[in-house]
Amino acid sequence: MMNFPIISLERLNGVERKDTMEKIKDACENWGFFELVNHGIPHDLMDTLERLTKEHYRKCMEQRFKELVSSKGLDAVQTEVKDMDWESTFHVRHLPESNISELPDLSDEYRKVMKEFSLRLEKLAEELLDLLCENLGLEKGYLKKAFYGSRGPTFGTKVANYPQCPNPELVKGLRAHTDAGGIILLFQDDKVSGLQLLKDGEWIDVPPMRHSIVVNLGDQLEVITNGKYKSVEHRVIAQTNGTRMSIASFYNPGSDAVIYPAPELLEKETEEKNNVYPKFVFEEYMKIYAALKFHAKEPRFEALKASNVNLGPIAIL
Ligand code: OGA
Ligand code: NI
Repeated sequence: MMNFPIISLERLNGVERKDTMEKIKDACENWGFFELVNHGIPHDLMDTLERLTKEHYRKCMEQRFKELVSSKGLDAVQTEVKDMDWESTFHVRHLPESNISELPDLSDEYRKVMKEFSLRLEKLAEELLDLLCENLGLEKGYLKKAFYGSRGPTFGTKVANYPQCPNPELVKGLRAHTDAGGIILLFQDDKVSGLQLLKDGEWIDVPPMRHSIVVNLGDQLEVITNGKYKSVEHRVIAQTNGTRMSIASFYNPGSDAVIYPAPELLEKETEEKNNVYPKFVFEEYMKIYAALKFHAKEPRFEALKASNVNLGPIAIL
């Protein structure tokens, strides 16, 4: 089996561009995941964000998590827990408008650093979308436009800590799922591991690596590419050797963006066989996803296809 793809963006400029583009293409087609180094986000900014996130967890989140665990009796479970994740999280929205000033308990410094980091990540996400367009043979800006809707994309960050866990065989840090949205950029702990993806029926570790950014593709890119790229199932295993930090940023379509397979990527025979992904408003997808996140993705696509049948092939395009 090939190793988990680690891609340096430094080599994107110059003679090795072709090779880098090829690696990205292979990762998108065969893994749905890759890890970026030399991505241009300053390492000292990442270090500061990591320090502030861990401080914030200890000061504002850890006690609350412990209380939740003991109130639910989760520290003493004997059988597998299937309706809960062993994680402590909060969410920040950056686009279409930021809510960071409304979030309680964040220091001014943390807000400032989070804002700066998210701006850099937003640019990186858009740069990546254009690299995907290039590899797919779509015009530059196609994916960004597809996500735009009337108010631009939704961009948000889920700040998570996966606390040390006494019985990781009984409770997952985060249960297996695919991500609903577009492209996801993850800044994960460089020491405590836990993230795994499902490849060819096997769970494979996404290796912790200092200052890297893990990228994965969400369900909407699967729809737009009509399955050329697939969102891949992943999960987080809770650990017995420490708390794992993960800062996951989701670059998603705006809620009223209409999502459908790019006409350029539809081949005659797939159309004839009716192997065409559905067309829908992103918000509608999210309603289904909210109820079925920890289930297989196919029924979500099928449910939306069923609501497309009366439209006929022309309306689907
Ligand atoms: C998610 C997710 C992985 C992680 O939040 O969707 O997959 O490592 N997170 O936190
Ligand atoms: Ni996920």
